[in-house]
Amino acid sequence: MPLHRAIYVSDAVGGAATSLLVLAEILGASDRNNRRDGLTGVLMRHGGRFMQAIEGRRADVDRLMDRLRADPRHENLRLLSDQDVSERLFREWPMTLVEMTPDATRVLSGATLDQLSPDRAEALLSAAAGALPLPA
Ligand SMILES: Cc1cc2nc3c(=O)[nH]c(=O)nc-3n(C[C@H](O)[C@H](O)[C@H](O)COP(=O)(O)O)c2cc1C
Repeated sequence: MPLHRAIYVSDAVGGAATSLLVLAEILGASDRNNRRDGLTGVLMRHGGRFMQAIEGRRADVDRLMDRLRADPRHENLRLLSDQDVSERLFREWPMTLVEMTPDATRVLSGATLDQLSPDRAEALLSAAAGALPLPA
């Protein structure tokens, strides 16, 4: 079954830029829905923007992208990459929050999230996810 991965950047709206409660609500729904839909990925919030990678079957990724485009907690959603891939990069996580680690900062090298090429966006999220402990 072909696998698909989308990476996008968006602008957080209102409390979504800083609130932990908003993040917790997003991650709660993500964990529940993504387990159901066989999706995996990571979410980063940095500099008032979200960057998220989502991987799974194309139809499931597309359905989530439609819900995301309609979500008022962010706006200006722009795809950095949207392609078939041979394997998952984030198979351990239905959705997890990643931080701007030193490795990720090196990849970012002064740019903002929306200035990254698809390859660098992927590298940044992978570097940040590499700092996470694996789930038990
Ligand atoms: C930045 C951001 C990332 C999100 N990521 C996901 C996700 O990975 N999976 C998901 O189901 N919903 C995600 N959501 C929430 C969806 O936009 C939507 O509110 C949710 O899927 C609706 O689920 P429900 O019908 O179960 O309430 C995200 C929202 C935002 C703002």
